[in-house]
Order: sequence, then structure tokens, then C-alpha cells
Amino acid sequence: MTATQTMTAAGRGLDRVDGPLKVAGAAPYPADFSFPGMAHATLLQATVAAGRIRRIDTRAAGAAPGVLVVITHENAPRLARAPGGITIGPPPPLQDDRVLHHGQHIAVVVAETAEQATAAAELIGVGYEPAEPLLDLADPRADRVENAAGGGVARGDVPGALASADVKVDVTYTTATETNNPLGLFCTVAFWDGDALTVHDCTQGPAFVRTALATAFGVPESGVRVLAPFVGGAFGAGLRVWQHVLLTALAARIVGRPVKLVLTRAQMFTSVGYRPRTVQHLEIGATRTGELVAIDHEGIEPAAMEDVFAESLTRSTALLYACPNVTGRTTQVRLNVACPTWMRGPGEAPGVFALECALDELAHKLGCDPVELRLRNYADVHPQTGKRWTTKALRACYERGAERFGWWRRIPGPRSMRDGRTLIGYGMASAHYGYVQAPCQARASIGRDGAAYVRSAATDIGPGTYTVMTQVAADALGLPAAAVRFELGDTEMPPAPLQGGSGLTAALGSAVHTACRQLVQAFLDVVANDVESPLRGCAAADVTISGGRISPAGEPADGETYVAILIRHGLTELTADGASARRRDLDAEPGTFGAKFAEVHVDPDLGLVRVTRVVAAIDGGRILNEKTATSQVIGGTVGGIGMALLEETVCDPGTGRVANATFGDYLVAVNADVPDIDVIFVGEPDPMNPIGVKGIGEIAIVGVAPAIANAIFHATGRRVRSLPITLADLL
Ligand code: MOS
Repeated sequence: MTATQTMTAAGRGLDRVDGPLKVAGAAPYPADFSFPGMAHATLLQATVAAGRIRRIDTRAAGAAPGVLVVITHENAPRLARAPGGITIGPPPPLQDDRVLHHGQHIAVVVAETAEQATAAAELIGVGYEPAEPLLDLADPRADRVENAAGGGVARGDVPGALASADVKVDVTYTTATETNNPLGLFCTVAFWDGDALTVHDCTQGPAFVRTALATAFGVPESGVRVLAPFVGGAFGAGLRVWQHVLLTALAARIVGRPVKLVLTRAQMFTSVGYRPRTVQHLEIGATRTGELVAIDHEGIEPAAMEDVFAESLTRSTALLYACPNVTGRTTQVRLNVACPTWMRGPGEAPGVFALECALDELAHKLGCDPVELRLRNYADVHPQTGKRWTTKALRACYERGAERFGWWRRIPGPRSMRDGRTLIGYGMASAHYGYVQAPCQARASIGRDGAAYVRSAATDIGPGTYTVMTQVAADALGLPAAAVRFELGDTEMPPAPLQGGSGLTAALGSAVHTACRQLVQAFLDVVANDVESPLRGCAAADVTISGGRISPAGEPADGETYVAILIRHGLTELTADGASARRRDLDAEPGTFGAKFAEVHVDPDLGLVRVTRVVAAIDGGRILNEKTATSQVIGGTVGGIGMALLEETVCDPGTGRVANATFGDYLVAVNADVPDIDVIFVGEPDPMNPIGVKGIGEIAIVGVAPAIANAIFHATGRRVRSLPITLADLL
């Protein structure tokens, strides 16, 4: 079976089942919820990066029209911090007078309307006792943490191998701070009924929000319900519980009414994380014939002063190539900055950028084709553990991608391809992402109308989870997709992990599949001794199901329907639960792989770069819905174009203030920047889970920026080692 052979209901591209709701404006996003008596909260944020609040005068704000309460560190109750690190517990807000970063929340104003709250917030007088902030990665006073997220590697003798290498590359790459910037402003709506709390939130993990809130307020988790049926994008920003979520619930508790808080676009730059900037030093050694003998990769990035986010920049360096001597480490430097977070392809997007550009430099030095160099160092087994891969079709990604792109038409030397005055460049890069499959549960039921309901407390931030889970359930139950209703985004449903780390389709899909197969078993159990049933004594392996009719295998005309069984046995419905977890019995390494190819046109007079074509070849295991999967990869590629050429969150070096916190000033790739993007899926179903999938959310962006940077070098002969690559770099 090939990756694009889909299961029956899956088809090659079932349209999004939630599409009609979204285009009709009827999909309820958190900000769409309103309740009788609802009040509105606004945040006030610090305008210094370090120091103490000497004075905070809320009298004028408190007396302003419509204001119900102003909460500051002087009157906020103590809130407990949930255990579990970054995904659950932020440091509770408003607990003391210290300021640790510019944009830190220092007050919440609650008023009858959002406008009144915003106007009143401006009346708060704040006096600071500022301290000199730590803002520079090189500041010797800053604390450093090494490999806090794991992902470090040390094998072989790197210094020895580098010393004896025929050819060496020794380079430093930097990537910019980027802000996730989902279109939907993050919003929380909270209301209390005694000790019971209901919250609508923009989150990738409702269960984590529930734990954080229950812990913060010391109430039982069973009384906290978190809903997120629709989230207006997140790209990782919803992977943790942020302080504004706790503050909204706090405000609701204090005023005894429902409270809504919507972050402003500017607050989205400081309150819900961002991709930290990186400085990465790479030394690579190779033989004259292009065998890698050593790689040393060191990454440095900022971390918040008292928070816990960390990522690894060298995870892929450890395993992408069959190199015997490799060291890699990531150092986080504690600065007076807002807490960073995961942003699409976290770790890998910047880490693989540096690695794959450095390899391009090596290929150039060796006079070796970049694809050829990668094939020469292909890792047939995991180079760190020596184990085989569950499945790996990276070779096919290179070959099929190169063929689709027309890579072999490339004339090797820089500045050797032109169209008139326009310089043309071809570049490529490898991609890898290790998807994370966490435990998950789902519940499936079929009632007398013959329709199935399948539920799990997961989220769908846009990749098509509603649609793909509908397909998985339809296949497992032998029903048309139209007869399946899949619901998510409510902590009252069976628990699901975060939609993140490219792992939810594997986790949730496996749980849905298992729940549905258990449901089939439940029907067979009902008729096990039923003399009236043609299915009497049948095991699940002995039946086929089509159109809701269960038949003994090979006898599709026989058998009976779910509905007939329910009616004859006097049942209104049958329900079954399913759980999934990462397989531990396979002595093999999982991983998602890809190869990215980019063509750029560069205007030599203006330095203007246009990405004119991208081919992304992905080994994502079985592809359940080619349409949504292709969309997912196109979206990640657009993010990669932004990363390469446009996106940069600019922080003022003196004050730590984000200087471009608007969509006018923070540039993202728009339609005019996006060329034809050609997506190819290769590979085999992954045996790690019963539905054969790997995650593709993150790998969609990984490798795009280096393919573009390498194409720019090929076009211009200019090696730009700092993202984003702008006009100024090419003039
Ligand atoms: Mo992804 S950065 O794990 O939402």
C-alpha cells in the first residue's frame, strides 16, 4: 500500500465537514460567546522590562464609568501554580511588585463594556523603580541552561574528526524572533457557579486549561469545564495555559459575573509566546568525496527569567545523516523577555535551517550536488541508536521531489541561471520532525437513527481534525461520512492530548479507530447468542461492514444493520470507549521526513526576491485525506516563506519593547508572496499506530527557509546567514 492509498470513506479529499459552518460565520469561536450579564476585562501591561512597581494608582480607573473592579498585585489573591511545566502552569500573575519583562500584565480592569475597560486602564498611574534589563544573548550576567528540552547529542570524537577532515565549514547562522500570530485574537470567557467554573478558551489542549484553573483557584477539576470547539488558529501559541486565562477566571470570580477578555493584536506579541531568535554555530567536516565525518552544532536562544519554555535546536542534527561524530546542544539564556513558546516546527524550523544551509555551503565547497551530498550520507538506520526506522522514505522524497521540481536542470555554479537580468536560483533542504504521540481516548456510539456520534476532548486549530476523524470513524464503522458526527473541544468528553507536536492525528485517530472497532464488537456481543441474528457467533475479524450493515465476511447480502440489532434488542444506542498510546513493542525509531525544493527569482538591481516555485515531498506515513494534508503542507510552506524573507519581531534593544506589534509592521507572507506549491506524499503506513499515520503539521514548515536561502545563494552567489533575508542583504 502506498501512502496516498486511502481508506474507503477517506477518499482522496473529503471536503472539510466544518467548512459550511466556517464560511457561514456559524462556527462558534471563543470570542463569539456572550452570556447575560457578561462583563469585559482589559489588561494593562508593564512599560519597562525589569524592576519593581513602586506605585500603582487605580483610583481614577476605579471611578471611571462602568468599571466594576481594578485588580493589581496589591489586591489580587494568591493563586497556586499547577505542576506539569510549560504546558500547564504559567507563573501566576499579579503576585508581587516585580517586573520581569516589557508587556507583563500588571493590572486587569473589569467593566460593563470592553471600551469602558480599555479607557479606564489608561487612567491607571504606574510608577516604576526600573532596573537594568538583561536583553542581550551575550550578556555575561545572564543565567544559562543547557539542553533543558533534551535533544542534546554527543557521539564519537568530534574534535578529532574535525581536525583530520579534508574539507570544513565553520559558520554562524541566526534566525529572527517570530510571533505565531494566529488570525483569531486569543480570547477567554469565564463564569462561575459557586466553585464550578466554565471557560471558553483559545487553546490546543482544554484538559491542560482545566488543570491549571482548578489548581490556581483550589477547586476540584471535576467542576471545571473548558470548551474550545473552534480555535482561530494557534501555530503553537495555544499549547500552554497563559496568564490571561487565569486572570479572566479571577476577574469573573471577583465580580461574580461572566467575564470576557480578548487580547489586542499588540498583546498577542507578548502574552502568548513566540518563536525565540537563535544564534547557531556549526562546524562540519567531510572527506573530499563528501562523506560527513563530523558535525558540531550549538544553538543559543533566549528564555524567560522565571518560566520554563525550552526547545532543542539540534534534535534533527543527531539523526538526519549517517555521520559517526556528532555533538549538538542548545543553550537557553535567561533574559527579561516574555516567555517564548512552540511555534510551528519548534526547534526544527530554526535548527534545520542552520544545518541545511551549512550543508549547502559544504556541497558548494566540495563541488558536489546538494541532493547528491545528502544521498551520500543517507541514514539507513537511526545513526544514534542504530535501530531501524519504523518506515523511512526520505530517499523517495529526494528522488520524487527532485524529479517533480526539475532539479537536474540546475546549472551548479552560483549566478549561472538567468532570465534576462533576473537571477534564478534552485535550492533544496532535507526535513525531519519527530512526532509525539501521547495517550488519548475517544467514545463512539450508534443510535436508532443509524448515525454515529464520536467524541473526544481534542481541538482542531485548523488542520482538518473534524474531517479526518469523521473519516476514520466512518471507515471503522462501515458508515458513510455523512452518517458520522465527530465532536471535540469539551473537557466533558474523553481526555485527549494537546493538538501539537504533530501527534494528534496519530493519537486521536488511533483512539477513534479503537473506539469504533470496540463499538462494532459491542454490537457483535449483543447478538453473540441471538438465534435470530445471521451474525450469531461472529467475531469482529469475521465480518465486513458497509452502509451500516454488518455482514459475515464474503457474504455482503447477508447480515443485518446496526439499527435492526438495536431495535430487536430494545436498545436505544450502544456506546464504546477506545484508548490509544504510543506503541512500545516496536524496536524501531519513528520519524517524519521530507525534502523541500525552492526556486527563486532575484532582481539584481533591487535585491528583490520572489519565491517562484516550491516542491515539498513528504513521508508522512498514510495520508488520510490528501486534500486537508496538502492544505496543511501548503500552510506550513507559506510560513516557511515568511520565515525566510519576511517575519521578524523587532525588540527595542534598550527597553525590550516589541517595536512592530501590528499586522502592518510584522510582515507575513500574503497571497502575492506565495507561488505554486506542489506537495507530494510518499512512503508507507507507519506501523506505530493502527491507522498508519505520522504527523505532518510541523514538517510542513521545516526545510522551507533553508531551501529558499540556498536558492538565493545559487541565484546570487551571496550567502546570507541571517533570517529574514531582506533587500538590504542582497544589494
Ligand atoms: Mo505545534 S508548534 O506543536 O502547535
